[in-house]
Amino acid sequence: MPRGMSPASATRFRPGPLRGALRVAPDKSISHRALLIGALTGGELQLSNLNTGADLEATRQAVRALGARLDGEGGEVTLHAPQRLHAPGVVDCLNSGTTMRLLMGILAGANLPARLTGDDSLSRRPMERVAGPLRDAGALITTTNGHAPVELAAHTGLKAVAHHLRVPSAQVKTALLLAALTAGTSAEITGDEHSRDHTERMLRYLGASIAWDGTRIALAASTLNARDIEVPGDPSAAAFAIVGALVTPHSEVRIERLCLNPTRDGLLRALQAMGADLTIRDAHEVCGEPVGDVVARSSSLHAIDLDPALLPTMIDEVPALAVAAAYARGTTRIRNAAELRVKESDRVETIAAMLEAAGVTVARHPDGLDVSGAEHMNERIEVASHGDHRIAMAAAALAAGSPSGVQVDDAGCARVSYPQFHEAWEFLQQGVAR
Ligand code: S3P
Repeated sequence: MPRGMSPASATRFRPGPLRGALRVAPDKSISHRALLIGALTGGELQLSNLNTGADLEATRQAVRALGARLDGEGGEVTLHAPQRLHAPGVVDCLNSGTTMRLLMGILAGANLPARLTGDDSLSRRPMERVAGPLRDAGALITTTNGHAPVELAAHTGLKAVAHHLRVPSAQVKTALLLAALTAGTSAEITGDEHSRDHTERMLRYLGASIAWDGTRIALAASTLNARDIEVPGDPSAAAFAIVGALVTPHSEVRIERLCLNPTRDGLLRALQAMGADLTIRDAHEVCGEPVGDVVARSSSLHAIDLDPALLPTMIDEVPALAVAAAYARGTTRIRNAAELRVKESDRVETIAAMLEAAGVTVARHPDGLDVSGAEHMNERIEVASHGDHRIAMAAAALAAGSPSGVQVDDAGCARVSYPQFHEAWEFLQQGVAR
């Protein structure tokens, strides 16, 4: 269980339609960046609609330890960035990989010693993918056999960052960009595969000199201006309500002010290829990010061979896609997804176990899984979340279309990214009665 969370809470998710309009949890990735990059501006900025999950609590503490002051409650915060970043001492990143990896970049670039720790799940996740390239640029970093705790020591200065990504990871490229930014140097990163570009967009919004095309990123030495940031809804949080509505008769949900960044919309594209009834409304831009409403209605879905190029744009949405596949006609094949094995749980295993508990046939592969749509789900479905927030929330979507619902051993872990998930789900299920 991630530290700082209440004990495991068994939850029964009911079957039945989802109806209503909702703003889901604010985007987690953009919220981390708003706090961490905002702390590099040396000025004062208003952050609105920040994610309030446990992962963001780790980033708020980290930003305070860097010398920033945060005034305000919940998602509405005034950030007073320090003139010079402070050495933070020991930072507990809890369950948050984004906090740890982005912080490594900032600390290496600013040449600040620190020790970064995390909970058991985070301590099993790979950190050399960030430490290695930072070391190549001159940073002094040690990991514990490739994992947290991570130690950063003072070094003689960072040279310009030049790196070819071995995994299309937004966290790795962001750590390198933030290292170059805080070191006052440039960065050239190649080998991206359209992984989320929130960092690039936010740096441009705050005045940095940056160019990118989905495969290569070039950042010139830049300073940032403090500008207010509003965070849109999180597509990874919306995924469960969207899929729940698609697989459950008589459902219609409208998710409002959702981030529609093309590096995050792979799930919507995959679902459309499966025959989903999805409509986008009111598309516009907020602080450099495309935003709009998504309407999802009950649909008859068919299987697809997922386009491997879509994977980096929907890496966190595979649990939701797998639930859609479980209700679709035919066998959906998901590949190019080896990264699933190093998320908050080994998601190839935890997704497969969840669907098998429902009576769905799943084949596991080193880099993905095949899900064969089931004619009938089991009456009795019991799922272990393994403390992984996205598995717990996927179980709710699975339950919506099932005959008798789903029992989850610990769904309290939804709090990592979506503290109001249970209330939001209840609201959508009660929508029928209104
Ligand atoms: C994130 C990037 C993704 C994603 C994670 C958040 C980010 O990880 O899975 O939940 O905010 O940059 P990788 O960059 O390791 O693929």
